Amino acid sequence: MSLTTPGTLTPVLTDRWDKDAPYTLSSYRDNGGYQAWDKALSMSPEDVVAQIKDSGLRGRGGAGFPTGLKWSFLPPPDGGPRYLVVNADESEPGTCKDIPLMMADPHVLIEGVAITSYAIGCTHAFIYLRGEVVHVYRRLLAAVREAKEAGLLGEGLGPRGDYNLEVTVHAGAGAYICGEETALLDSLEGLRGQPRLKPPFPAVAGLYARPTVVNNVESIASVPGIINHGNDWFKAMGTEKSAGHGIFSVSGHVKNPGQFEAPFGITMRELIEMCGGMRDGHRLKFWTPGGSSTPIFTEEHLDVPLDYEAVGAAGSMLGTRALQVFDETTSVVRVVRGWTEFYQHESCGKCTPCREGTFWMRQIMLRLEAGKGQPGDVELLDEIAGNILGRSFCALGDASASPIQSGIKYFREEFEAGLTTPARELFPYEKTAVF
Ligand code: NAI
Ligand code: SF4
Repeated sequence: MSLTTPGTLTPVLTDRWDKDAPYTLSSYRDNGGYQAWDKALSMSPEDVVAQIKDSGLRGRGGAGFPTGLKWSFLPPPDGGPRYLVVNADESEPGTCKDIPLMMADPHVLIEGVAITSYAIGCTHAFIYLRGEVVHVYRRLLAAVREAKEAGLLGEGLGPRGDYNLEVTVHAGAGAYICGEETALLDSLEGLRGQPRLKPPFPAVAGLYARPTVVNNVESIASVPGIINHGNDWFKAMGTEKSAGHGIFSVSGHVKNPGQFEAPFGITMRELIEMCGGMRDGHRLKFWTPGGSSTPIFTEEHLDVPLDYEAVGAAGSMLGTRALQVFDETTSVVRVVRGWTEFYQHESCGKCTPCREGTFWMRQIMLRLEAGKGQPGDVELLDEIAGNILGRSFCALGDASASPIQSGIKYFREEFEAGLTTPARELFPYEKTAVF
């Protein structure tokens, strides 16, 4: 089968994961590593930007913004610093692609950082990592040290020896909001992590108010492959507007959950088949296309191509391709209540709709889950969610409202049942859990 056949895996980013000690520089180099860095250094920075722009690579952090276009938004050099900041603060419930990527293959990220920094004229790049993953922090530090000792980073790089690049790995303190790019920049500057007003976008005024590119781990890790193999190779995978390959993280009530690297446009039905199907004796009830911040999908969406356009047209978002699968033993009310608690806890408190709304939505969800809902609660919940959506300062507010509104849309009777019957009676825990 060709790499472009729907339903086929496209191991590119995950290709080296099963090798012996794939995280070492020697293993990475034995498998073609750092050839793209050499190639990029023989190109002009403008040509590297142009190639990534033309490749069709879109941001893998969730929003799908064209990567090369973002790079090209930086204003012309003015002699001052310009920064690359890699967003490695992966924290969305269900999202688990960047952490395994950095653990297994940190050098592909570092090679991508080097190429991107060279392309945008940055001499000091940062990797902002989620604070809790100390093992990943250590691995990245070791990989940066190895690359520096081998002369791949540091001073005097390139054929003319006139390019310098410092890479700093920074561990955050474990706040979900610091995955929002401007809150991340505040946190990196030593401030409390809260979103900034956009515009100006970081491309114009980012870290220390200087032009900054903020890109997700998987986006940057995709760059060496594109430089090595070319745009035709990359565009041959995926769909017309969502080119290439991506890591799809399937979790929940399937037989063999895991990471599946596949072309964009693969369907959930195909991915569930790759997981060996649903757990024995059970059937699909609902699933998330992009983690807990996207409207949920049901069985009727199993054949929606997983690309940005098709998922959007079907009423949700591809987001981080965090595909959480729930079978018929699951209480929608319980799951959505859990996500709502997460958002309430992680709300930074800067704006009223999110700060107050997540609190009140959680209160109502707790009542409904306990079977102690009051008449009008479902309507009130829907109304509060509707007042958060589009009225919050950043995407976290919208994220908290989306699963609630879609949950009510597809499973209203379960929310209504919460006026009289506890979720644990309708959906006993012991049947739901995967042991
Ligand atoms: P966004 O659509 O506002 O921006 C996307 C990117 O494009 C940003 O880097 C932004 O600076 C840039 N951009 C957009 N318009 C621009 C312009 N006119 N000029 C210059 N740059 C421009 O999306 P946002 O708020 O950055 O991210 C939301 C996404 O994050 C959601 O789709 C969600 O899926 C994802 N997400 C990912 C998480 C994770 O753990 N990886 C956690 C939570 C959300
Ligand atoms: Fe903070 Fe929530 Fe407002 Fe975002 S939407 S700025 S997380 S309070």
